[in-house]
Amino acid sequence: MITGATTVAGVVGSPVRHSLSPLIHNAWLAAAGVDGVYVPFSPPPHGFKDFVRGLRGGAVRGVNVTLPFKEEAMMAADEISPRADLAGASNLLIFTAEGHILADNTDGLGLLHAFQVQAPGFDPKAGPVVILGAGGAARGAAAAFVAAGAPEVRIVNRTYMRAEQIAGGLGSTVVPLPLDRMAEALGGVIAVINATSAGLSGDGDLNVPLEATPTDAVVMDMVYKPLRTPFLARAEAIGRRTVDGLEMLIGQAIPSFEAFFGRSPPAEVDVRALCLEALSQ
Ligand code: ATR
Repeated sequence: MITGATTVAGVVGSPVRHSLSPLIHNAWLAAAGVDGVYVPFSPPPHGFKDFVRGLRGGAVRGVNVTLPFKEEAMMAADEISPRADLAGASNLLIFTAEGHILADNTDGLGLLHAFQVQAPGFDPKAGPVVILGAGGAARGAAAAFVAAGAPEVRIVNRTYMRAEQIAGGLGSTVVPLPLDRMAEALGGVIAVINATSAGLSGDGDLNVPLEATPTDAVVMDMVYKPLRTPFLARAEAIGRRTVDGLEMLIGQAIPSFEAFFGRSPPAEVDVRALCLEALSQ
């Protein structure tokens, strides 16, 4: 029930129609009995700045930000959290009553949450990781592993220059490697993360020889449509543990919910099952 005291939050993207975030947050709100609501917003492609300007002042508590606005969200903010700064993007804007806009990023926490849930015992500090891709998703993943204390983060991308650019902004822990050194890049890693947008077709032009990873390496794909990407299917087929993008989505929603509504989401709701049902339709 919407009351005069309802706290409003939401997600902004374009398109936003298929976002699972309203499902997740509203299920948590209902189960917790919180007087709040979480709605989708879809400004026109060039209308993000005006949209954010309209929310300044706190009528809406905050919004999650999804494609294609994650970088623009940084420019709209008055204050940027260190983790959003490191990731170079924001998936969470908070509007204070004083008129301030804070840009934060919970995608990195979501990524680590997914590993904790689906690869119990995984320790990001225990060895090098490889990230495939060099777009915004890859940069966010690299930043998350640097922040979590990974000793080395290797970036392999089709376009080497973009891998170099990411590495340049994240310090000496992050090392770009050209495609022709892929097998070497996979040696001794504890995790391989596919952060390319080639999820539907596997790893696209990368042809990752997953056999070159240690048998206890964990393989993750940030794409969750489909949930079991060809890349994850290949990893499973050779016995590697896998982590999926849906668990990451849920993982970024938890701290977002806390920022919007001031409490943890209720643990008893199986939001993964709700999302799986929605994805199957
Ligand atoms: P995002 O911000 O969502 O990460 P992006 O900036 O478009 O999206 O980056 C997409 C990434 O997927 C890039 O690293 C891209 O490689 P290039 O930098 O060489 O373009 C990678 N990618 C997309 N399609 C690919 C394919 N078929 N094979 C390999 N890499 C692919």
